[in-house]
Amino acid sequence: MITNRTFTMLKPDAVEKGYIGAILEKINAAGFRIVTMKMTQMTVNDAENFYAIHKERPFFGELVEFMTRGPIVAAILEKENAVEDFRALIGTTNPAEAAEGTIRKLYASSMGENAVHGSDSDENAAIEGAFHFSGRELF
Ligand code: RTP
Ligand code: MG
Repeated sequence: MITNRTFTMLKPDAVEKGYIGAILEKINAAGFRIVTMKMTQMTVNDAENFYAIHKERPFFGELVEFMTRGPIVAAILEKENAVEDFRALIGTTNPAEAAEGTIRKLYASSMGENAVHGSDSDENAAIEGAFHFSGRELF
């Protein structure tokens, strides 16, 4: 089932650098509706569960440390073709390779600290959204 929703996090690096407003502006300008949004901080346990798919990767420890070092902004976004269009808007994982005008090209500093998360499938968008939000927080 295509849900037309995706899930995003503005990562600790983006929040630390004061980029929340600028990134939300890009998200709005690209035509996404914010279904719900909050500022929160992941615990180590949260980050290990959220990124469990990467637990055998060499960068896993670094990723968990990074994602828990400060607050994030979590949000569910809605738009036709949301998952794919949002991945296009944020750009490649490595900001050095990201296309001009993408969020990672503009606001990310490295492969690890890449400013923003975007779900990679409708299925993961639903799982990740439910990880951070209850049904009564969806608008
Ligand atoms: P995300 O899940 O955060 O949207 O990022 P992505 O799909 O573009 O990349 P993914 O392969 O899912 O990796 C998740 C996050 O792990 C960190 N990472 N570090 N140092 C490294 O080689 C490395 N590779 C990945 C990044 O923060 C990446 O976004
Ligand atoms: Mg990913």
